[in-house]
Amino acid sequence: APSVLPASSPLLTSEANEKYANVKWEELGFSLIPTDYMHVSKCKQGESFSEGEIVPYGDISISPCAGILNYGQGLFEGLKAYRTENDQIRLFRPDQNALRLQTGADRLCMTSPSADQFVQAVKKTVLANKKWVPPPGKGALYIRPLLIGTGAVLGIASAPEYTFLIYVSPVGNYHTASSGLNLVVDHMYRRAHTGGTGGVKSCTNYSPVVKSLREAKSSGFSDILFLDAATGRNIEEVSTCNIFIAKGNIVSTPPTSGTILPGITRKSICELARDIGYQVQERDVSVEELLEAEEVFCTGTAMVVKAVDTVTFHNKKIKYRTGEEALSTKLHLMLTNIQMGVDEDKKGWMVEI
Ligand code: COI
Repeated sequence: APSVLPASSPLLTSEANEKYANVKWEELGFSLIPTDYMHVSKCKQGESFSEGEIVPYGDISISPCAGILNYGQGLFEGLKAYRTENDQIRLFRPDQNALRLQTGADRLCMTSPSADQFVQAVKKTVLANKKWVPPPGKGALYIRPLLIGTGAVLGIASAPEYTFLIYVSPVGNYHTASSGLNLVVDHMYRRAHTGGTGGVKSCTNYSPVVKSLREAKSSGFSDILFLDAATGRNIEEVSTCNIFIAKGNIVSTPPTSGTILPGITRKSICELARDIGYQVQERDVSVEELLEAEEVFCTGTAMVVKAVDTVTFHNKKIKYRTGEEALSTKLHLMLTNIQMGVDEDKKGWMVEI
């Protein structure tokens, strides 16, 4: 067993070893492949999280009256570990996830781990599951930290106890379409509103998009694009990722002023685009501008950088630049070369473990 495990950790069963042997590394998509271990730590409201422990991956037991079950008091994070050609395991900007979790915890009145505890726990979880980090070029180990209210609350209040859990899964591409995404603008549902929780990674931001996503997929689209709730005139986010438009030398993306998730890939791509001479604007982006853009692309941890091939708005279908010549192709390569250690990590984004 890996050295981060306590001596008393149960050894893996032959069933677990068989599960590993059966992974098809060439065919990874974005669905759960349970691994061996997870991290769990708990704390009482207002106290500090203990260091926590690495335990075998498996079900957890919580009160039926838990804050997360009754009132959705929970946040999640998403980050990845990469295996480089020389077999190093590296994380991409885990400190940023740690900080975002703290902002979200503040919004939902939850106690959160310190940034250092967060990063240490992520490192330990990845180390315990090291063999599950896919070979270079085949994907990454997706890391899913959860901060949930596990204490019992009947009246609406913050839970008296919190659990910080991290599980991981090897993943490949989120969307399999190799060309680009076919998005449809949603005219019915909204993802977030001013004063709500759209700007934090609350679990409750995600379940409501499923209905819309399901309808879009049944009509042959790959994903949906939400408009702002206040006016319905500006674009906001895709179901699970941020959106950018590009025209000439200008790259624009909606601002993180409360209804947009402050994506870490979003932030990194803004920086990389500026580095290669683009003017990056974080501001409201109208539907008209979207329809007139030369290029549209999405960013996210799961999505990485993904070109948008078409956007359908009412019955208008707009096609955008994708492929070799596209800015998104260039930005995708710049980012993944840093993540995979092909290019020097000049920005200090990668954390080796
Ligand atoms: C991520 O990109 O990490 C996300 O949060 C998307 C997730 C809902 C699959």
